[in-house]
Amino acid sequence: MNERRTFLKVLGGAAVAMVVPACSSDPASSSSSSSSSSSTGGSSSSSGGTTQLKVADVPEGALVNGPGLTFVGRDAGGLYAMSSLCTHQSCDMKIDGVISATDIFCKCHKSRFDKNGAVLNGPAAAPLVHYKVVVTGDVITIDATAKVSATDRTAV
Ligand code: FES
Repeated sequence: MNERRTFLKVLGGAAVAMVVPACSSDPASSSSSSSSSSSTGGSSSSSGGTTQLKVADVPEGALVNGPGLTFVGRDAGGLYAMSSLCTHQSCDMKIDGVISATDIFCKCHKSRFDKNGAVLNGPAAAPLVHYKVVVTGDVITIDATAKVSATDRTAV
């Protein structure tokens, strides 16, 4: 009987250990990987298994999936990046959300943000966090350790 309990405890511990990495969400640690989709038809370039978001993938007016847990947008002022984690309960809106022509919808509890991350509808109460965008050549990199103002833009 004790052996069975010990086995179940070990099995339960293993299950928790397997789940935790999938739940951790550190935008900084995932900024080197990327994927892209767009409500306006943008795409990303892939080379050797590494996908890089390029300036041409984000035309003016677009908001696309950026590297890691980010969205990347572009308006008349330039490029901007913000967290894809809903500020209500941290659902990743790249997975549990929809980017439309006008806004970002979180499917978890129906919050809605404008394309610059401002809350349009709760329950989320805070805007999406913006991060610094760095452009090297035509490659876009997001510095998720550097939070910036929602009006910050990187000219391109
Ligand atoms: S986590 Fe997005 S609305 Fe709750």
